[in-house]
Amino acid sequence: MSGGANPTDPGAAGQVLAGGANPPISFSNEYRDSWCGLARPDRVGERMRVAGWVHRRRDHGGLIFIDLRDREGVLQLVFHPDQAPEAHAAAHRLRSEDVVSAVGTLVAREEGTVNPEMATGAVELEVESFDLLADAETPPFQVDDDDRVSEELRLRHRYLDLRRRSMAEAIRLRHAVVAEIRRTLEAQGFLDIETPILTRSTPEGARDHLVPSRVQPGSFFALPQSPQLFKQLLMVAGFERYYQIARCFRDEDTRADRQPEFTQLDVEMSFVVEEDVIAVVDALMPRLLALGGIEVATPIERIGYDDALLRYGTDRPDRRIPIEIADLGEVFAASEFKVFSGALAGGGTIRGFSAAGEFPRRRFDELTEQAQALGAKGLVWGVVEEDGSWRSPVAKFLTEDEIGGLISATGARAGDAILAVADDPAVAARVLGELRLAVGVPEDRHDLVWVVDFPMFGWNEDESRWDALHHPFTAPSGDLDGDPGSWRSRAYDLVWNGTEIGGGSIRISSPDVQQRVFDALGLGPDEARERFGFLLDALAYGAPPHGGIAFGIDRIVAILGGRDSIRDVIAFPKTASGLDPLTGAPAPVDEVQLRELGIQVRPGVAPAG
Ligand code: AMO
Ligand code: AMP
Repeated sequence: MSGGANPTDPGAAGQVLAGGANPPISFSNEYRDSWCGLARPDRVGERMRVAGWVHRRRDHGGLIFIDLRDREGVLQLVFHPDQAPEAHAAAHRLRSEDVVSAVGTLVAREEGTVNPEMATGAVELEVESFDLLADAETPPFQVDDDDRVSEELRLRHRYLDLRRRSMAEAIRLRHAVVAEIRRTLEAQGFLDIETPILTRSTPEGARDHLVPSRVQPGSFFALPQSPQLFKQLLMVAGFERYYQIARCFRDEDTRADRQPEFTQLDVEMSFVVEEDVIAVVDALMPRLLALGGIEVATPIERIGYDDALLRYGTDRPDRRIPIEIADLGEVFAASEFKVFSGALAGGGTIRGFSAAGEFPRRRFDELTEQAQALGAKGLVWGVVEEDGSWRSPVAKFLTEDEIGGLISATGARAGDAILAVADDPAVAARVLGELRLAVGVPEDRHDLVWVVDFPMFGWNEDESRWDALHHPFTAPSGDLDGDPGSWRSRAYDLVWNGTEIGGGSIRISSPDVQQRVFDALGLGPDEARERFGFLLDALAYGAPPHGGIAFGIDRIVAILGGRDSIRDVIAFPKTASGLDPLTGAPAPVDEVQLRELGIQVRPGVAPAG
């Protein structure tokens, strides 16, 4: 038998693993001419050869059944002792995960043995003979969709973990997303251009992964936290429309939605304003979400940063939760309750919301603890009674009018709880934003929203200075007189179900404005030149107005595939503690390698927090 493609097999059309955008290829060689997972009744009577892994073996008196698994699914093979005695005898020795190529005839299953749960459940292959291509050791866990296996073990044997259907589906969904991105952006004239991995520190605000230089001992490359500066240089270079599926590296604590290396869809465009970038994304997102069967209404709605913070307590609003925070300043403007009057006198705010649900006393105690852990001085709480009164430990400090105002401002109904916080606006927003997530139940739908009109800077309490809310290359909007705290930026974030999936901005394209922003960040001309001289130079050689955006592909695929963690959509992710149990990385290196790099390891140095 010879290899090579054969024309598309009509019997192979139809089932593709969910999320697989690429059609199943059809070919024929000495190992297989058909896919297990695509066998259907229309091919009954055909002789076919299939190959794959032994998913399960069942001995039924005389008959042996093997579920054989390939990338497209599972097919039941049946071995008859009288029809194929040799194959039957050999099949006794087959064990889970052995690799097999088998030839036989596809037959319809007898009535009563049809399995409607299986795509191939109406047929089975009557095996004539098979080849054992590889033995498998007993796997450390069964390759099925039982999730009780520890993540450490799954990652250590990731090649087995990825054999599980749900994992394979996630990886194929990821492929489909990337393929759709490429198709869409290619059609719009974007060029795919690679940028360096060994580079200088890029300021996205995380800690860098460093790579020591051998040729310049004591000097280090930094792995890019994003291709930000290179994509801007590509705009100065005149490419106009760039995209890249780019690996980014950030040495930050791993979480469900964070990995130390992750993948961005990185985009940059020249001669554009915000609307142009947003329009590209508004056209792309529905195509990506459609891969998960999700419909998106476009244009995607927008919300201003201040509005998001006030109503949802965060710049990543999850609007599926039907709770909105209300400002209660007016209701309590003349209140004699010292918690409220004190907050207002000190320039603070009073905000709160109402929520339906069960609220026994202990729930309020937990919420109060949570609020305090988040920095609140306390939490006002209570439940609205049928008669319109408010059952709360602080009700006695409030007038009837105030209680009425509280109920109407928060839209509370009988039986609802009302929670309120008096504090400075940032604390009130943060605390109520978290409590809203804690008590709210998201509606069963999807929510995409642009957050726009960000401030340029956020005050860094610990270091008493301004930090860029996005990055220092984001263009400010409006005039730059007055306190940097009042500057606004031309940035935009895209939020999906409360997760920030992308962010970008129109960039600074003038060296003077760039230096003014550096100044505001406390980066004087000398330091700015030392760190970003190459960018300032480039901006001085005729930079077009430009802007762009980057998306977290891992996050998009995770939400699309309904996964809790981006680890489930990355073929070889790091554990929650940032390690790779598969290869054992990171690992110590040879003394010789260290010497070449001029590096001496100081034992016992604890990792920085
Ligand atoms: P930003 O830092 O907002 O912007 O990153 C863009 C998107 O990348 C995803 N993301 C991550 N995903 C997984 N693990 C991480 N550790 C991680 N960090 C970020 C998020 C985020 O929205 N250069 C700018 C973009 C620009 O201005 O064009 C940038 O990197 O989904
Ligand atoms: P106190 O007078 O400090 O005992 O507070 C009375 C009630 O108000 C308690 O239930 C506190 O948890 C609550 N409380 C105190 N400070 C605040 C605040 N800043 N915002 C909301 N509730 C508060």
